[in-house]
Amino acid sequence: MPKLPVDPSLAKIREAADKFGIRQLWLVGGAVRDQLLGLETTPDFDLAIGGSAQDFAAYLYKTGVSSITPVTYPQFGTAMVRVDQLQIELAQLRKESYRSKSRKPIVEPATLEEDAARRDITINALYLDLWTGEVVDPTGHGLADMASRILRTPREPSVTFNEDPLRMMRVIRFRWQFGLTPVERLYESIKDCSARLSIISLERIRDELCKMMVGPAPDKALEDLRQLGLLAQFAPEFLDMLDVEQGSFHHLDVWYHTLAAVRLTEPDLVLRLAALFHDIGKPPTRTVEDTGRTRFFGHEVVGAKMTAQVMRRLKFANDTIDEVCLLVRNHMRLGSSPNLTKPALRRLMRDLGDELPRLFSLVEADSKACKPGLPLVDVNTIRERVKEITLTTPAAKLQSPLDGEEIMRLTGLPQGQKVGEIKRRLEEAVLDGDLGPDDTEAARALVKKWAQNR
Ligand code: CTP
Repeated sequence: MPKLPVDPSLAKIREAADKFGIRQLWLVGGAVRDQLLGLETTPDFDLAIGGSAQDFAAYLYKTGVSSITPVTYPQFGTAMVRVDQLQIELAQLRKESYRSKSRKPIVEPATLEEDAARRDITINALYLDLWTGEVVDPTGHGLADMASRILRTPREPSVTFNEDPLRMMRVIRFRWQFGLTPVERLYESIKDCSARLSIISLERIRDELCKMMVGPAPDKALEDLRQLGLLAQFAPEFLDMLDVEQGSFHHLDVWYHTLAAVRLTEPDLVLRLAALFHDIGKPPTRTVEDTGRTRFFGHEVVGAKMTAQVMRRLKFANDTIDEVCLLVRNHMRLGSSPNLTKPALRRLMRDLGDELPRLFSLVEADSKACKPGLPLVDVNTIRERVKEITLTTPAAKLQSPLDGEEIMRLTGLPQGQKVGEIKRRLEEAVLDGDLGPDDTEAARALVKKWAQNR
């Protein structure tokens, strides 16, 4: 049995367990798995306990080991405590059984073997004994699977997946996160059970999707989701991208071009989501001209609308939806050459704001995902030019030098549309480079001139 060091905060809990009379306490799940894989451990500790998690959590609070009143979930036999700023989940060793019609499990105390069997994959069912530091492998496969990088469910896959269908997504995430090989029949079983994902809340699905998106092989995970029938359960719009032929700039259809673009981005969630959604508007906008040229007019605008629909369905935060939609809607703004005028660049800076660096990365990835040999969009030149412009007119200053109050005072106009129009004209003059953003004097003169000419 391998041995691992026991974290000092967990040692405090073990000492409390000694006093409380608990003899079974294990660290289990991701923290053990990651340590055995030689990865940095997540500060997310899950403890399995042979006894009541609620009672022990209350004891930890009473004795000052945990700093928070325990948050307990009696129906699941779990409790949350906080030790040295670490959030730790205590869960009674348990087995879950289901009445045929209900999705709600009946949770009962169980042996270590039963607790291990109800988990998602064997390498997540390894237990670190907090007294000896030994890693225990109740399924009998965990350590060997870890060594050979095998992806296996502790029980018949369909049983594991039917119990919690989200595990089908977790399995795909773990496969690509850790480079695991699925055992025979595992993927077939996901295909068979895929429709069951529809009973899972869209928030849980979204969280798994996000973890995949920032992982090391998001394109491979997405392709698995599609091929195994899971994507169809929560974002069928993406299926329409397959086999959509794109014409001479592309060697791939819309779906595989999208996957290539995702692969070529840094692991930043908003950027990767933008890459995933950037061409979602292509299938409904595709036309072929008489010359045979394939076009996707307005796909970025249609795509931004579709992006908002899908992301709202998946209950993403409004800020995230806005950021991704902004990138999707503007991903064609740079065109194919960097010969953008200064006014065009200033407008780009105004419209994109803080999202401009992400737009550049998205355009770079999009361009690299096109047919090899085509000239790439020279994003670096554009980056440099924006940097130069920022020195004289930072993005925050790309606005009218005068506010509405002052315009009203100068013109005698009442509050209303006309004042707004003048303000917009001043902003346009700043963007065109005809008016300095701080040049209030010239702005006043312009306003007076416009007022006289009316
Ligand atoms: N688990 C499970 N089925 C799930 C979720 C979790 O069997 N649907 C079990 C696994 O043993 C897992 C442990 O609960 O290792 C802890 O779950 P969680 O904290 O969600 O995941 P981690 O494995 O720690 O990994 P990550 O943080 O990357 O999700």
